[in-house]
Amino acid sequence: MEIARRRWRGLIREYRDFLPEVGEEAVVCLNEGNTPLLESRYVPSLVERDIRILFKYEGLNPTGSFKDRGMTMAVSKAKEGGSKAIICASTGNTSASAAAYATRGGMKAYVLIPEGKIALGKLSQAIIYGAKVIQIEGNFDDALNIVRDVAERYPVTVVNSINPYRIEGQKTASFEVCQYLGAAPAYHFLPVGNAGNIMAYWKGYKEFYEMGMIPALPKMMGFQAKGAAPIVLGHPVENPETIASAIRIGNPAGWKGAVAARDESGGVIEMVTDDEILEAYKLLAGREGIFCEPASAASVAGVLKMNRRGIFKDGDTVVCTLTGHGLKDPDIAINSAETPVTVAPRIEKVVEILDL
Ligand code: F0G
Repeated sequence: MEIARRRWRGLIREYRDFLPEVGEEAVVCLNEGNTPLLESRYVPSLVERDIRILFKYEGLNPTGSFKDRGMTMAVSKAKEGGSKAIICASTGNTSASAAAYATRGGMKAYVLIPEGKIALGKLSQAIIYGAKVIQIEGNFDDALNIVRDVAERYPVTVVNSINPYRIEGQKTASFEVCQYLGAAPAYHFLPVGNAGNIMAYWKGYKEFYEMGMIPALPKMMGFQAKGAAPIVLGHPVENPETIASAIRIGNPAGWKGAVAARDESGGVIEMVTDDEILEAYKLLAGREGIFCEPASAASVAGVLKMNRRGIFKDGDTVVCTLTGHGLKDPDIAINSAETPVTVAPRIEKVVEILDL
């Protein structure tokens, strides 16, 4: 029997026809994309209606978050345009991804992060991939303002989601969802921080719809953390606070686009508390076997919240994006679970503890 060869070549090559053109020699790729869409085995039992829930597990991208989809596109275009350096502000994941893709593409990465407010895994990534990491005595919003100013005056390409190529790359996640399901889901739930991803998913769904590839569009359901919910409140939040540090943002750059995605799709942008986020986070790991970071769990917290409002009906398909891997933020995992017991190195001692 001959071996059937299957090779995923990264999303620029796989979705060439649906993306801005980029010359083959400029493609900067770590084989991002093609992430699993996992059937939920537990969450539907908490929902009043007979619905199907699936998790788009974006933590399985090369640097552990969905940012790699946008970064392959943005960095490839920067390289094609002759840029020697990229810059971003970040709550952590964008910096990890930018650092990796810059290195891969032979460019420099400068990343500005809020001091003391990014998860350990993300910081370690940015450093080890070789980015120049600058901690700002301020928050993400302050860092992004500086990044915009620097890029106006110096020869460096911004790779935050204000760079339209980021959105182009990220929209491929909705293509993958549609191809897996054979249609769009009824609802797409995701966390909202700087509000690029909700726009990107919506753009992807709309493009497939306009090409006649899917018969209907989903409702976009975005969730902010209660202490960092400017879109829900209708005004910027000066000192955003949440345990979900990835979405600790008070004045999202993608505000308008997120509102458009919400309104055009007939969806919502709502908030969930840190307790609701942590509950969903623990449930995903402990009941589903899926370890995501706290911000990602805001999508599932959103499903549980909307269930209490009674929005679902039998037969609905619901997709939740789990935006980043749980290993990004080991401190929260350790603080949220039981501490391992320590015993003498003897079988009786170990057996005493096991309930066999
Ligand atoms: N989930 C995770 C894990 C994130 O890192 C982010 C954003 C979001 C959700 C929200 O996505 O900004 O497109 O609305 N992280 C950015 C960063 C801000 O710098 O890594 P968004």
